[in-house]
Amino acid sequence: MAPAQALHALTEPLTDAQIEGDQKLHLQDLQGNILKGHGRNHSAHVFISFKVGKADAAKAWIKKAANEHRFTSAYQQLKAAADFKKTGRDGGVFQIFFMSAKGYSYLGQDVAKFDTTFKNGLRGSIAALNDPPVTDWDAELKPEFHAMLLMADIRQANVHFMAKELQIELAPLADTQIVFGDQQKNERGDGIEHFGYVDGRSQPLMLEEEILGESDGVTLWDPAVGPKLVLVADPLGKPKSSGSYFVFRKLEEKVKAFKTQEQTLATQLGLTGDARELAGALVIGRFEDGTPVTLFDEPMIETSAEPNGGSAPNNFDYRADLDGSKCPFHGHIRKSNPRGSGPGGLADENSRRMARRGITYGKRTDDFTDINAMPEGGVGLLFMSYQRNIADQFEFIQKSWVNNDSFPKAGVGIDPVLGQNPVQTAQKWPKIWGDASQTVDFSFREFVKMRGGEYFFAPSLSSLSKL
Ligand code: HEM
Repeated sequence: MAPAQALHALTEPLTDAQIEGDQKLHLQDLQGNILKGHGRNHSAHVFISFKVGKADAAKAWIKKAANEHRFTSAYQQLKAAADFKKTGRDGGVFQIFFMSAKGYSYLGQDVAKFDTTFKNGLRGSIAALNDPPVTDWDAELKPEFHAMLLMADIRQANVHFMAKELQIELAPLADTQIVFGDQQKNERGDGIEHFGYVDGRSQPLMLEEEILGESDGVTLWDPAVGPKLVLVADPLGKPKSSGSYFVFRKLEEKVKAFKTQEQTLATQLGLTGDARELAGALVIGRFEDGTPVTLFDEPMIETSAEPNGGSAPNNFDYRADLDGSKCPFHGHIRKSNPRGSGPGGLADENSRRMARRGITYGKRTDDFTDINAMPEGGVGLLFMSYQRNIADQFEFIQKSWVNNDSFPKAGVGIDPVLGQNPVQTAQKWPKIWGDASQTVDFSFREFVKMRGGEYFFAPSLSSLSKL
C-alpha cells in the first residue's frame, strides 16, 4: 500500500474506507471539531494566560493532558458520532486545545514557521478589519491569552462544573477567563442565532457521509471539499501532522434594534401581513427557517423546510438572480459566499470558505416574538472558524466582501449584519421581489458589535505531547 498522504494534502472529502484505513492514524493525531462540528449544545471556552515564570509547568500540564488523551481526536469524534447513530448513546464531554502565537513564544517554541496573520494575533488586524479598539472589548477578553481550551457537552451543568474545575486546576500556573456558549434552537430543533435565523446550515463538507446526507442534492451547489481547505502541516508536528488556524470572535447582537429596523424596512418596502417577513429574509438572504430568499416562491412565505428532519435547502446558486432582485448583493449569505456570482469567479470564491463552528451565547428571557421584550444586547454569537490561512479566508471575507460597500459591484453597500465600514452607503433593496427596476435606499448596519477575540492554532495532538 502506498504511504498515506497527509490529511492537509487531501483535496477530496474523506470516505469511510479512508477513515478506517490509511487515514486512521492521521485522524487520531488531528483534533476534533475541525472536519465536523462537535454538535453539543453547551460549551465553555477557557482562555488561559500563563503566569510569569511558569513556562515549564505550563508545558508539563499540556503534555500530560495530551498524553492522557484529554483532548478529543478527529477519529474519536467520528467513532463516537457513528456510535451515537447506532445506539443513541452520546459521545460525552468533548475537549480540544488551542495555542496562540503569544502562547507558543511563551513556551519557547519557534513561531517563525507559522503564518504571519496568526503571529500578529487578532489585535494586529484591528485596523484592517475596522474592529473596535481593545479598550472597548468585554473585560473578560481584554487580557492577552496564551491558549484556549474548549469543552462541550449536551449537559449545561456539566460544562459549567468542568470549566470551574479546570480553572481551579490551572490556578497555580495561569489566570483564566471563561466564556460560555449555549446554542439557541427554534421549534424544529434547528440551531438559530439571536436574530432568530437558522444558522450553521451552509458549510464546506469534508466527509463523504455528510455529502450523501444532503437530501436536497448537490447539483447546483456542491459543498464537497477536501480537508486541505482548512488544514495545514503543523509547523511543530511530525512530517505528516496537521493542524488548523482558528478564529474566535465574540459578536454581540443588538437584537431589539435589529428587529425594529427589520420592521422599518418592511414598511419602507410596503410589505404587509405575513409578507413583512420578507424584509429580514432580504437582510440575511434566508427566511428565519432557513429557506433561501432567492428560492422564495410568492405568495408562500414559510417554506420548504420539512417539519420532520429535512434541513433548509442549500442546493442553490444565484444564476437565476444575477441582478440581485431576489437575494440582494449585500444579503449576508450572498455577501459572505457569492456562490460564483461575484467578480472573482467560483474557484477563487470557493477557496475562501471556512468551517464555521460558532455557538450562541447569553440568556434570553423572552420567546423571540415580542420585539419589546427582546434583549438590547448582552447576547450574541461566539463566531469560530477553522481555515488553512486566516488572511486568505476569514479576513478576506470580512475585509474584502462583508465590509466592502463596493463588493460585488460599486455602491451595493456593506453586509447589513456584519459590515464594519465608516463610509455610510445605504444599501439598495428591491421594492418588488424579483424585479430589479425599482429599489429603495435604506441603511441597515451596526447591529453586531465585536467584543473581543483572538487567533489561535489547533495543533496536532502529537505536537502537544512532545512540547
Ligand atoms: C452575529 C454575527 C452573525 C450572524 C447573526 C450570522 C448569521 C448567519 C445566518 C443566519 C446564516 C444562514 C445560515 C447558514 O447557511 O449557515 C449565515 C451564513 C453564513 N455566514 Fe454568518 N452570521 C454571523 C457572523 C458571520 C461571520 C463573522 C462570518 C465571516 C466573516 C460569516 C459568514 C457566513 C457564511 C460564509 C455563511 C454561509 C453562506 C453560504 O454558504 O450560503 N457569518 N450567517
